[in-house]
Amino acid sequence: MNNDIERVLLSEQDIDTIVTRLAKEIDRDYAGKKLLMLGILKGSVVFMAELMKKITVPVQIDFMKVSSYGGGTSTSGRINILLDVLRADLSEYDILVVEDIVDSGKTLSYLTKYLANKGAKSVKTCTMLDKPSRREVEFDADYSGAIIPNEFVVGYGLDYDENYRALPYIGILKPEVYSK
Ligand code: PRP
Repeated sequence: MNNDIERVLLSEQDIDTIVTRLAKEIDRDYAGKKLLMLGILKGSVVFMAELMKKITVPVQIDFMKVSSYGGGTSTSGRINILLDVLRADLSEYDILVVEDIVDSGKTLSYLTKYLANKGAKSVKTCTMLDKPSRREVEFDADYSGAIIPNEFVVGYGLDYDENYRALPYIGILKPEVYSK
C-alpha cells in the first residue's frame, strides 16, 4: 500500500464487485437505447474505462471537463465548462454522465440541466462514490457505487493535488499529507 494512505476504503475486489453490479443495472436499463457515456475529466477516467468494458449494450463515449465557478465557494451551482461535448446529434442519444464522486452535488446538478437543454434524448448520472453528508444542492445520482463517509479519499481516478489517481484501490489519505 502507498505510504501516504491511512487505510483502504474500497479494495480492488470491492471495486470490481461494485462496477459489475452497476454494469448489469445499466445493461438492463439501456437495452434498445443509444447509450452515450459522458465522462467528466479527469476523475472519472479509471471508473469509466472499467465500467464500459463490463457493459454489453452498444455504447459510445465522450468527455467533458468542468471546474467549479469561483473556486467552488459559489452557492449558485454554476460551473465553468472547460471542454464541451462537441456533437451535433445529441438529440439521438441517451446520455449517462459518469463521475468518480458526488460531493456538493453542484457539478452533476448543473450538467444534467445543461445537457437536457442541449437537447439530449435523456440524461442520467452514474457515480462511483457518493458523499451525501457534503451535499449543498439537492441531487441524487441514478446509479451509485458506494456511499462513503466524509473522509479525504484518493485513488481509482481521485486525486489530491493531482497525485494518487493511478492507485488501483480507493484509500483514505493520511491527514499529515494534506495538512503539510
Ligand atoms: C471532482 C469530481 C466531480 C466534482 C464533484 O472533480 O470529479 O467532478 O469534483 O464535486 P461536487 O459534487 O462538489 O460538484 P474535480 O473538480 O476535483 O476535478 P478532477 O475530476 O479533475 O479531479
